[in-house]
Amino acid sequence: PAPGWSIDADVVVVGSGVAGLTAALRCEAAGLNTVVVTKARLDDGSTRWAQGGIAAALGEGDTPEQHLDDTLVAGVGLCDADAVRILVTEGPDAVRRLIATGARFDESSAGGLDLTREGGHHRRRIAHAGGDATGAEVSRALVEAVHAAGTDERGTLPGPEGGRRRAGLRTIENALVLDLLTDADGRTAGVTLHVMGEGQHDGVGAVHAPAVVLATGGMGQVFSATTNPSVSTGDGVALALRAGAEVSDLEFVQFHPTVLFLGPDVEGQQPLVSEAVRGEGAHLVDADGVRFMVGQHELAELAPRDVVAKGILRRMRQQDAEHMFLDARHFGAEMWEHRFPTILAACRAHGIDPVHEPIPIAPAAHYASGGVRTDSHGRTTVPGLYACGEVACTGVHGANRLASNSLLEGLVYAERIADDITGAHAGNGLRAGVPQPVPHPERPAHPLLAPEARFAIQRTMTDGAGVLRSAESLRQAADRLQRLHTEARDALEENGKTAEPGVDTWEATNLLCVARALVAAASAREETRGCHWREDLPDRDDARWRRHIVVRLNPDRT
Ligand code: SIN
Repeated sequence: PAPGWSIDADVVVVGSGVAGLTAALRCEAAGLNTVVVTKARLDDGSTRWAQGGIAAALGEGDTPEQHLDDTLVAGVGLCDADAVRILVTEGPDAVRRLIATGARFDESSAGGLDLTREGGHHRRRIAHAGGDATGAEVSRALVEAVHAAGTDERGTLPGPEGGRRRAGLRTIENALVLDLLTDADGRTAGVTLHVMGEGQHDGVGAVHAPAVVLATGGMGQVFSATTNPSVSTGDGVALALRAGAEVSDLEFVQFHPTVLFLGPDVEGQQPLVSEAVRGEGAHLVDADGVRFMVGQHELAELAPRDVVAKGILRRMRQQDAEHMFLDARHFGAEMWEHRFPTILAACRAHGIDPVHEPIPIAPAAHYASGGVRTDSHGRTTVPGLYACGEVACTGVHGANRLASNSLLEGLVYAERIADDITGAHAGNGLRAGVPQPVPHPERPAHPLLAPEARFAIQRTMTDGAGVLRSAESLRQAADRLQRLHTEARDALEENGKTAEPGVDTWEATNLLCVARALVAAASAREETRGCHWREDLPDRDDARWRRHIVVRLNPDRT
């Protein structure tokens, strides 16, 4: 849509989780005029919901090399080893810098960080905060740092009144980013956005900047049941696809093994039961109380996440059960209250007392291991467009992310992006080119979907492209998604009509865009690997498929 107002910046960061705020703070510290744009409030993304912690070789006897080995094994042959090496070697210092920024992690009685274990880790290397509220603490520390990043005494921002001006760091909340602006040479020139709030610049506007950092998080809402908050609608991947960027590994959606089971028809965000509960000794048991993971993998309940999710689903099928159980009664009340207060409260809120009974659990969509393809500095294939955090595919996760590597990836790669932009700025004085004209809001270039389509997309994806897939289920999903698209396109082409622009409309439109790309990738990968599980092709096929599937939007067939 055509912007009604615009502001200028050196860099615009889209998203305000660990990746976005880390990038923004570092850009601002380097003297760049930085704008953070976020769809809801600064702390509304997935970061706040992270429980288990942040993995890094911080413990005695642990080394980045061992962390690298565990990450590569979990990624089942598809990790980029160089990207992982960067992650694990730069990770420990990045965590120390996060602590220096103000994040308070739990300490052991002997002093030093209290480190726990999660699936796929051969060592205790997960730092945590507030017991099981790590993401909330990381988010709190970063949001406070943003608020403290130098108040501008000079007055207000010449942009949306909802934005708050800092020395070099402005934040615009309740602002959904729509599309990338590019100049005549195809270089990034900023973003268009829809601000939903009060203020004279409410509505569609633009931030002009030569560097755009996508840190929009994941796309869990593409499925009916997910651990992700309602804002995780794949906006960054959809924007990148529309901008012509390459997107990779979308078929590798991670299903978290232990999500509180509240019923077969419950939809939307579901309460997570952290892997750290298993890391501290909880057992997975079936309806008869049998520990079914023992003997399936040398690490039993602490096998990599895809192995455990598959183990649970297999046993559910064998027993014709809707869920399995996580038994941690032996922790006792004191440990539950001290170590896992968030999970204890969530269970009790749903009438389950883990101190006295096993917790019903089932896998649910959790994390997009793929995303917008980047190099080791977070650069995408569109000049000036960067991506970090869950929206990105840096190559560190391969076919299955290792538990608690996500906050770490957000930190490490956000810092690298900030350094790259700062370097480019110092080198040639990054300046935004003149943005190419964009279509008027009343005449969008592509059809917008009615908000209700969100539920049809979620049901379609859960049925056809969920934890278990086959050529037939994927074909049916592709057909249904195509129908939704065709209906919206025909309405636009034949009657010039499209859904009223607004956040729900854009979210549904973005969900359809990423769902179609995900189904295309999952159909193409004719094997089972990591968290891509094809019922019809149950074996891994290294000869044909030890490679990545890269998706680009065909501009002639939106
Ligand atoms: C968890 O606490 O189990 C989630 C950790 C993660 O997704 O990395």
